[in-house]
Amino acid sequence: MKRMLSGIKPTGQLTLGNYIGALRNFVKYQDEYEMYVFIANLHCITEYQDPQDLRKNLTDAVALYLACGLDPNKSTIFLQTDVRAHAQLGYIMACNTYLGELNRMTQFKDKQAKGEKNMTAGLYTYPSLMAADILLYQANYVPVGEDQKQHVELTRDIAQRMNNKYGDLFTIPEPLVAKVGARIMSLQDPSKKMSKSDETNKGCIYLLDDLKVARKKIMSAVTDSVGVIQLDKENQPGLYNLIEIASSISDRSMEDIADEFKNEGYGKLKGYVADVVCAELEKIQNRYHEIIESKTLEKVLNEGAIKAAKIADETLQNVEKTIGLEIKY
Ligand code: TYM
Repeated sequence: MKRMLSGIKPTGQLTLGNYIGALRNFVKYQDEYEMYVFIANLHCITEYQDPQDLRKNLTDAVALYLACGLDPNKSTIFLQTDVRAHAQLGYIMACNTYLGELNRMTQFKDKQAKGEKNMTAGLYTYPSLMAADILLYQANYVPVGEDQKQHVELTRDIAQRMNNKYGDLFTIPEPLVAKVGARIMSLQDPSKKMSKSDETNKGCIYLLDDLKVARKKIMSAVTDSVGVIQLDKENQPGLYNLIEIASSISDRSMEDIADEFKNEGYGKLKGYVADVVCAELEKIQNRYHEIIESKTLEKVLNEGAIKAAKIADETLQNVEKTIGLEIKY
């Protein structure tokens, strides 16, 4: 069975973008692959997080993993810091990543271009840690949304470089980016990705949003003045995004949905998208509440960490030995 690994960084509440671009696919793949899914808590602290908020977001993220359908009997679910090898291999990876490579990472460049102050060294070297996350497990595939593809490609470059220098240390991973839903856009500005750090909150749907709030966000999504329902990503990006959201969740093709509404007004389409999204959120939220009450999260994470550490420690040991860090007395 081929191995697959992915993670989410819960710097805030998980979003519909995380669900469609990532989480939903993890659930689909868990029957076919040996699946490792973790909560990237070390990645969260590249920017200051209020400790209490962080703890809550991490807990909610694990509960949401399960609520969305990840099954601990099929997937290994764990917290990054419970497997110490991540930070250790992360440092070794940073020593094998060039500054030029980090400077080319779009996420870093965007923040720099926005003139963000007080950017940390952790934020800069975060792609090296992400490479460690993946390579520790010798993963064949990494399912991610469009924005993370560049980081997986960097991981491949680092792995290939180290394999060339030292012999076969790592499996070369491949990013898996879905054809539909890999880049869900903000409902208020369809030129921007839907993201946890949405300033107004109106452009982003959170998985734990009150259903009325979620519906309102969809009904007031920015569209266009063309007035025709069709698939024209360039000229009608807001409409396209709404259809893409509904298509991803309902598993209907975008063409099919656009065709059904081609003689209707935008309000009717938005109502349909809201119905699809709210029905899905309601299912997830019901399970989320049951899971929080069942107090099973600790057990899931403990068992996941033991399974994950077994593989991660083996890789780390082999790397340390091969690159000459170990002394045999
Ligand atoms: P993060 O937490 O930003 O996002 C988690 C996953 O959700 C996807 N995603 C989206 N997909 C579609 N539309 C959107 N609007 C949208 N927003 C987010 C992301 O592409 C991602 O797949 N660095 C990673 C976490 C990470 C990781 C890893 C992932 C750390 N180590 C190793 C894979 C493998 C991150 O910040 O993702």
